[in-house]
Amino acid sequence: MLGFSSKQNASSVEGIPEGADDLTPPAHVAIIMDGNGRWAQSRGLPRIAGHKRGLNSVRKVTREAKALGIRYLTLFAFSTENWLRPREEVHGLMDLFRFYMRRECKTLVAEGVRIRFIGDPSQMPKDIQDLMVEAEALTSDGDTMTLVVALNYGSRAEITRAAARLSQKVANGEIEPADVTEEAISAELTTSGIPDPDLILRTSGEQRLSNFLLWQAAYTEFLFVDCHWPEFDEESLRQSVIAYNTRDRRFGGVRQKA
Ligand code: IPE
Ligand code: IPE
Ligand code: MG
Repeated sequence: MLGFSSKQNASSVEGIPEGADDLTPPAHVAIIMDGNGRWAQSRGLPRIAGHKRGLNSVRKVTREAKALGIRYLTLFAFSTENWLRPREEVHGLMDLFRFYMRRECKTLVAEGVRIRFIGDPSQMPKDIQDLMVEAEALTSDGDTMTLVVALNYGSRAEITRAAARLSQKVANGEIEPADVTEEAISAELTTSGIPDPDLILRTSGEQRLSNFLLWQAAYTEFLFVDCHWPEFDEESLRQSVIAYNTRDRRFGGVRQKA
């Protein structure tokens, strides 16, 4: 695990080469933004204060990702399992999503960032579903970076839905069983058209996927950092990209530099 704090220079992190002028940005970085609750609780604050502070990191990281040349940034905002949290926290999170979408769309348009949602929107409150559709439409011309927000996202549910749809097509005689290929499954996922993530990073020290992009992460590089999401900033993202640049991706073949 990389234990860097946001204050360190890239060159001070063990195992990471000094200087980062020739960085190759990963095309797609996906982030499990974890640790908001612990960040707040360790300061004697309610958990929702951590989620609010986490929004600052979302803004910083979105801006920096674009500056680094990352083409797709996926942020895990709410999982299909997060409904299990106390009502008050779920309500607080929904209010933050509303706030973010109302406030941030203009900035995204100005920065040429397109927003896209993955997951199952049908269980989200109706007004949030409307804001999601609106945000996708308003930012649809953005061509510098795509910000993919995973809202009510669960990988097993997504794969199950894809399997059910393909089975239905076979039952209808629209396709043959042999047409159920990896490409056909990918095309039925909510991530259809988005390249697989090159790097998945998770904050707050947990080393698990928590039902995130299970299919898409077949050859993804993983990075677990021990700072909480509200502490993750521009420099943290830059250091993560430097760490990514030290990896050899082989895809089952022979040495190929990340
Ligand atoms: C991640 O932070 C944010 C969401 C799940 C929405 P957590 O709320 O999971 O924070 P911890 O893991 O409890 O500290
Ligand atoms: C994953 O974090 C979901 C998001 C970051 C939105 P969780 O905090 O919900 O995951 P677990 O419960 O620790 O595995
Ligand atoms: Mg958590």
